[in-house]
Amino acid sequence: MKVLDLFSGCGGFSYGFQEAGYEVLLGVDNADLALETFKYNHKNSQTFNLDLSDNKSIDKIVKFLDDVGGVDVIIAGPPCQGFSLTGSRKEDDERNKLFYSVFEISKALKEKPKAIIIENVPGLATLYKGKAKLEIERNFEENGYTHSSKILYAPDYGVPQIRKRLFFVGLDKPYGKFIFPNAIRDEKDYVTCEEAISDLPSLEDNLGKDNIEYPKEPTSSYQKLMRKNASRLHNHIGTKHTDLVVDVISQVPEGGNHKDLPKGVGESRKFNEAWTRYHSKKPSKTIDTGHRNHFHYKYNRVPTVRENARLQSFPDDFIFLGSKTAQYRQVGNAVPPLLGYHIAMKLKEVLNNEKI
Ligand SMILES: C[S@@+](CC[C@H](N)C(=O)[O-])C[C@H]1O[C@@H](n2cnc3c(N)ncnc32)[C@H](O)[C@@H]1O
Repeated sequence: MKVLDLFSGCGGFSYGFQEAGYEVLLGVDNADLALETFKYNHKNSQTFNLDLSDNKSIDKIVKFLDDVGGVDVIIAGPPCQGFSLTGSRKEDDERNKLFYSVFEISKALKEKPKAIIIENVPGLATLYKGKAKLEIERNFEENGYTHSSKILYAPDYGVPQIRKRLFFVGLDKPYGKFIFPNAIRDEKDYVTCEEAISDLPSLEDNLGKDNIEYPKEPTSSYQKLMRKNASRLHNHIGTKHTDLVVDVISQVPEGGNHKDLPKGVGESRKFNEAWTRYHSKKPSKTIDTGHRNHFHYKYNRVPTVRENARLQSFPDDFIFLGSKTAQYRQVGNAVPPLLGYHIAMKLKEVLNNEKI
């Protein structure tokens, strides 16, 4: 089954599909470095650097796909502001076109894709008083797709990270309605931070080097899974903090944050997530795009790109390219591959069945 990944970023979502046996034909994004990473890790896929608010981009994608016989599945994680809810879509608001590009492409293809999946933050369900969600559903209906939506919780699918994301799955009508995959874990056996990253060097005395031998054997089944196809360690480079930052974070207990600091300490950062230290026996907080508010459960430093990648369920042979800032952004933006994998497997089951 063939996949088009729109707003692909580095390709976390489509990596899950690739692992589930799909053929990812094309990733489209307008961020160069993310596409470099995408290409490196999806060796058989093409990438297009295109602005999806531009009609010419839509034409180019449609022509490419029609020439290779079309796609079965479109997956997309568009920015959530891209809606036109006033009835008259303002052509001058670039963002308004982003979300619609998914449907414009599916409509223009010679052969209708069997499934369209749109991923977003849970807040989209209440965005513009719920109208954004209704608009997505209306577009599915207008294009002849059934639709189901659900907020999925990443730890339920073996991802060692508290992350909730809203998924819409539209199926070509004859396939009926999509039923989301069941959780594979419950709270008492969620994968923890320690199980995810305890085998990686501490980097307390130095910032480390890229592409090194693993200094330790894996100590959990999750670590073994992440290291399955990797022989060397990449993207595990430390960050130099000021003495003040090290001093403040050293006073935060596991699982704590700025509220656990003594009076007068770390007061420059007081917002919700400030000075958060992960808990070794729990999944991590939601990985962000590199805001430096989250710290290792044991060491007085922010997690490395590789540690964040592990917490996002990227295997160690998925390598991030570009500057460190770009790498953190790619990891934080992604759909956890393992979550993508479970959706992809369930979808395969549905699409392999006879049409109703
Ligand atoms: C949330 S990320 C998608 C992450 C991806 N699904 C993954 O799993 O790795 C959204 C992406 O949309 C891209 N984007 C934003 N505006 C765009 C535009 N006008 N055209 C194309 N891509 C755009 C960003 O560069 C970013 O990589």
